[in-house]
Amino acid sequence: MRVLGISAHYHDSAAALLVDGEPVCAVQEERLSRRKNDAAFPLSAIEWCLEQGRLEPDQLDAVVFYEKPMLKFERILTMALRGFPRTWRSFPRAMQNALGGKLWVKGIIRSQLGVRTDRILFCEHHQSHAAAAFLSAPTRSAAILTADGVGEWATLTLGRGEVDEDGSTRIQLLREMRFPHSLGMLYSTFTAYLGFPVNEGEYKVMGLAAYGNPTYEGLLKRIARRTPDGGIALDLSWFDFHQSARHSYSRKLVAELGPPREPWDPIDLQSADGRRYADVAASVQRVLEEILVDLARRLQRETGLQDLCLGGGVALNGVANARILRESGFRNVYVPSAPGDAGCALGAALYADRIHFARPHRPVADHPYWGPVADAGELSRVAAEDGFQPLRLPEAELIRRVADELARGRIVGWMQGACELGPRALGNRSILAAPHQHAMRDRLNRSIKYREEFRPFAPAVPLEHADRYFELPAGGGRLARFMSGVFPVRPEWRDKLAAVTHVDGTARLQTVDQAMAPAFHALLEAYGARTGIPVLLNTSFNLAGEPIVNRAIEGYSTFRRSGIDLLVAGDSLVVKDHSAQALPEVA
Ligand SMILES: [Fe+2]
Repeated sequence: MRVLGISAHYHDSAAALLVDGEPVCAVQEERLSRRKNDAAFPLSAIEWCLEQGRLEPDQLDAVVFYEKPMLKFERILTMALRGFPRTWRSFPRAMQNALGGKLWVKGIIRSQLGVRTDRILFCEHHQSHAAAAFLSAPTRSAAILTADGVGEWATLTLGRGEVDEDGSTRIQLLREMRFPHSLGMLYSTFTAYLGFPVNEGEYKVMGLAAYGNPTYEGLLKRIARRTPDGGIALDLSWFDFHQSARHSYSRKLVAELGPPREPWDPIDLQSADGRRYADVAASVQRVLEEILVDLARRLQRETGLQDLCLGGGVALNGVANARILRESGFRNVYVPSAPGDAGCALGAALYADRIHFARPHRPVADHPYWGPVADAGELSRVAAEDGFQPLRLPEAELIRRVADELARGRIVGWMQGACELGPRALGNRSILAAPHQHAMRDRLNRSIKYREEFRPFAPAVPLEHADRYFELPAGGGRLARFMSGVFPVRPEWRDKLAAVTHVDGTARLQTVDQAMAPAFHALLEAYGARTGIPVLLNTSFNLAGEPIVNRAIEGYSTFRRSGIDLLVAGDSLVVKDHSAQALPEVA
């Protein structure tokens, strides 16, 4: 049985291929098209997946789309009619923005791939999120919570998943919250108010929140009233997203909070406006956390289960995830590497296999590396043509050399194996650096990442050493496997981990499992042997505004255009002769 899953036309398109119940590969379109958050029909991703499986489209048993376009159309039409006549001008734009080519997606799939219509299936959006979260987690019985902006109608679902002895699988979504009442929309509205791009800048709001106080919490609680079942009802007088495709908040919100931040205005945390923005961020973050923790706690009591699987874009909020783990009563919280819509391609394919075709459960390999492999030969070739002298080194020597250079304060572009699925670099497409001094953060911001100063960098640490440096609750090491939780850095290490410790003393760490990423794990250990601290700063391998690098040649181009000192792809190493001045040794 060969199943292709597709997510497209909203944000971050992707494709995933499942053969006989096991994922073969999955990739976001942006990694191939090189357009960040590419939402186009993911033809390149599909072609690449089929190539990996050595399949022609007509050999596919099913192509599964990650949501039901007609239901989404119904929602947009209903909202437009409810707001008539105020909404009639914005209706065509809303249709275009929200649906794009989606309504005719069956026709697109048939014409682009030549797949028979009866092989094209549709999975509900939150079923795709739920399947991505539950069916990829190492558990056979778990509660499920999904939350995002909106799919068709649902914006948040609560449910459970079970795998029986005989391998039959059930996913039941017991309750749902419906548009326009949406935690994701609430958070995105304030993301827009704070001048960050919606669907991309949410993590900046989370980073900014640490600088503020939740002084607007009372207002937020009036805006998002709790309902007796634990959900929320948004007071729509503060919003505009439900009747406009252009604006997400209303004039009333501006009258209450003051002028919104313009995207190009720098955030000066010393100024009154800067502090106000931080307080707004802290308030919306606080309210999001409280609602999620409360919903998760209720779900734990209702199901009596130990495990919780989180899906949907809201599950990228690592601060909220860590609070759910600590406070909801669940022993384990699983978040896939791609809880957002890109991961729905894999989720929809898994849903079709296990539920629609009722095929037996197969455990999904517990890693995020489903994309194209970086080619060491390509790096050596391109670098040599460009006048460098690339080295091909045995792994132990390569790791020793890179660890030495990192300890000397050099910045390393690190490409190993297959590209990650999801927004985070988890050791296969990473920029690595020494985590000890503030100066490194400033240097990375200045010479490579060109990003806001308030945004923290993240550390990576071998799983077995994580407790020494970070305050992890039970289950924290697991939540940090794909960088899904934010946890306190132990106070005695904060000075020595200054470049990766956020202003509130926390870090969004990755715990590196040797079995999952052996070379990265070995590098951390070698760095620890050299400096006494097996922790590295790990940030995604891309420049601002570009997708994470995929091929070795893209890594090389980024290396040449930035302050990266060394570049590794597989066993190939390229070193800049006159790199930026190194920081003092840290040992
Ligand atoms: Fe979604």
